[in-house]
Amino acid sequence: MAAAFSFAQVLRFSSTPFSLQTNRNTLRSFTLFRPFSTASSSSSSSSYSVISPHKLQREKWRQPVVSVLELGGVKIARDDVVRDDPTNNVPDTIFAKLGMQLHKREKHPIGILKNAIFEYFDTNYSNKFDKFDDLCPLVSVKQNFDDVLVPEDHVSRSYNDTYYIDSQTVLRCHTSAHQAELLRGHTHFLVTGDVYRRDSIDSTHYPVFHQMEGVRVFSPNDWDGSGMDATSFAARDLKKCLEGLARHLFGSVEMRWIDTYFPFTNPSFELEIFFQEKWLEVLGCGVTEQEILRRSGKENNVAWAFGLGLERLAMILFDIPDIRLFWSSDERFTSQFSSGQLGVKYKPLSKYPPCFKDISFWINDSFTENNFCEVVRGVAGDLVEEVKLIDNFTNKKGMTSHCYRIAYRSMERSLTDEEINKLQWDVRDQVVSKLNVVVR
Ligand code: PHE
Repeated sequence: MAAAFSFAQVLRFSSTPFSLQTNRNTLRSFTLFRPFSTASSSSSSSSYSVISPHKLQREKWRQPVVSVLELGGVKIARDDVVRDDPTNNVPDTIFAKLGMQLHKREKHPIGILKNAIFEYFDTNYSNKFDKFDDLCPLVSVKQNFDDVLVPEDHVSRSYNDTYYIDSQTVLRCHTSAHQAELLRGHTHFLVTGDVYRRDSIDSTHYPVFHQMEGVRVFSPNDWDGSGMDATSFAARDLKKCLEGLARHLFGSVEMRWIDTYFPFTNPSFELEIFFQEKWLEVLGCGVTEQEILRRSGKENNVAWAFGLGLERLAMILFDIPDIRLFWSSDERFTSQFSSGQLGVKYKPLSKYPPCFKDISFWINDSFTENNFCEVVRGVAGDLVEEVKLIDNFTNKKGMTSHCYRIAYRSMERSLTDEEINKLQWDVRDQVVSKLNVVVR
């Protein structure tokens, strides 16, 4: 479903600025961008309190929901994030992911990849890049959008695309949310973190993933003797830096630059690499809009920025076929990776068969596929592999029917018919109660 590339979650913001399209999958040529250090693993500890024993009983294969977390020095309770309020669209399944910080786990593919990128920057820029990987993912609308010049009517601001805690607070949907603040005190920095997007369901899309943002600021001394204008100087430096990074990660691959649009950079580019017979987008970047620098008190400077999606790159580098695997605590997955070992090829666990179930209903005006997918994830968690629209028609009365095929599959065990039927019935009940559609 994701538009321009087959692999996934990259660049939400590379779409046209004032798009009126409602289906963001068509806009999303966004490519970017998704630890098991024992300490930060919140999934297995029995000391966490759980929302309701009844719920846990019903959904016993799911991770318990921690009730209070500490993120980047901020204490966060479930009720701060998940509220029964029309301005809040954060489900418990998302709250459960908040403290996981896969990027801080040294033996997890996401943590291994982060460290490999750090190694590149530390070696080539003599440790000049300041690193942030513990910034709180709850940010203001101002930080996430306004500070990086995302237009008022940009699709990414919608409740359909972004998790809102209230009308002024969101779960960051990109690490660019921290650019403006960090620009006030730093000239070279890397921000790594979990980011959150409401989305469709398939092997490359998951509502939580990890990004790394990089920013470098230049002063007039840097470009003065170059014979180039500041912007061209920054763009050339950016491309050189990122081509070096791509070679560090992928070896001597063929690469190409594609012009694109981001609200926060101009010019803006995407880097693609030729990998396994396909061009794959690996990151988005550009020369920082002067207005962002001006507001951060750096009007005499020029800067570049890039953002990359760690899951996307890790899926390529480690041969990981399904994005849900990153969240697996199954030892047969976790034990395959070791700290510092980039590119060890993942050996698939035995494949359990998928089970397909269809559901058809008459949609209403407020129906969106992301809302439907959220309901399905709410019921089935990581047991849902894919949700696909397989039939869509409008009758003479103007009523539109959608039929979705849901693929259920666990990567860790076989599911019983009884279990799947129960999930499907729960999905039916909940689409009716939560989305007000009429099941056919
Ligand atoms: N924030 C962009 C995204 O998530 C990526 C990006 C970062 C692009 C920095 C340019 C510069 O799609």
